[in-house]
Amino acid sequence: MSKYIANENRYEKMKYNKVGNSGLKLPAVSLGFWHNFGDNDKYSTMEEMCFTAFDNGITHFDLANNYGPAGGSAEKNFGRIFKEHFKPYRDEMIISTKAGYLMWAGPYGDGGSRKYLTASLNQSLERMGLDYVDIFYHHRMTPETPLEETMCALDQIVKSGKALYAGLSNYDGPTLEKATAILSELKTPFIINQNRYNILDRTIENNGLKATSTKLEKGIICFSPLAQGLLTDRYLNNIPEDSRIKKDGRFLKEKNVTENREALLKLNDIAAARNQTLAEMALAWILKDSDITSVLVGASRPSQILANIKALENTTFTKAELDAIDKLTVRG
Ligand SMILES: NC(=O)c1ccc[n+]([C@@H]2O[C@H](COP(=O)([O-])OP(=O)(O)OC[C@H]3O[C@@H](n4cnc5c(N)ncnc54)[C@H](OP(=O)(O)O)[C@@H]3O)[C@@H](O)[C@H]2O)c1
Repeated sequence: MSKYIANENRYEKMKYNKVGNSGLKLPAVSLGFWHNFGDNDKYSTMEEMCFTAFDNGITHFDLANNYGPAGGSAEKNFGRIFKEHFKPYRDEMIISTKAGYLMWAGPYGDGGSRKYLTASLNQSLERMGLDYVDIFYHHRMTPETPLEETMCALDQIVKSGKALYAGLSNYDGPTLEKATAILSELKTPFIINQNRYNILDRTIENNGLKATSTKLEKGIICFSPLAQGLLTDRYLNNIPEDSRIKKDGRFLKEKNVTENREALLKLNDIAAARNQTLAEMALAWILKDSDITSVLVGASRPSQILANIKALENTTFTKAELDAIDKLTVRG
């Protein structure tokens, strides 16, 4: 039997934001399982991170079929943690997963077909030991699949009870608009977009996603809000041995530090003048915006989760601060 008993004060400090015009609320800070929950990671650290998150009001855990490595292992590890400790708290948790990237060989393990989405969610539920997920996302736009097919698959999945809400990830504004028209007609509870957004990556400001999502009254949860660790004190002086770059290096590379170091040092000075760490300021910068539902952080240790929640203490910026940040980071 689990020794874990959730902190009874867990809802006192976290802020909960409405997801667009839906009835659901998400914590302003959510926890993602993309890294550090795979087969090469330490199970006890994964457990501790889940405890720390939930004890501090982080009710939302975000997964995907392919998180690991190996693909599927983050869901499997989460399933074990859930079974051992979190079952009594299921109704206090929002668990999401996704399908859209390559998961298994052959024509049915990738993309946006009804075949792939339906089979993948069944596999995810099996790995996590869940009857349903709270949010099921199509993970990326797949122009080779008719949009209507993907949206009808999401609709069917929600109506089958295997997911409570539908989400779209990595869509752009025009495709979101078309997808929403189909989902509205079907009365599918599609409520949220998940996209990369941080001080260094303004794509959603430029591809119409942010404005369209706001216009359509959908939520936005921002992934990689710390640019995978660049927007923290992790790489200000060197590249630590226990960092994502040294331990993994598939997605974040030394050259990303070199290219951004000058801006990161100056951003760190702006943060210090606000009495914040760079990580706190980076998260606060996203959360200043009422269009945004939640920042979806990753972590390699519990202390990072606690540090990130501190961002909520000051999410107000002066125009001078915002201009200074833009001057360092908006290109072209
Ligand atoms: N939908 C999609 O396509 C998609 C894509 C990517 C991610 N996501 C989701 O978004 C989640 C977060 O993405 P991400 O991991 O890239 O987010 P992130 O928050 O930008 O980066 C997390 C990394 O930053 C470092 N870090 C975090 N807090 C820190 C702190 N307070 N001080 C110093 N370093 C800190 C850690 O790096 P070290 O490991 O070096 O300690 C951590 O692993 C994923 O887990 C996933 O759920 C979704």
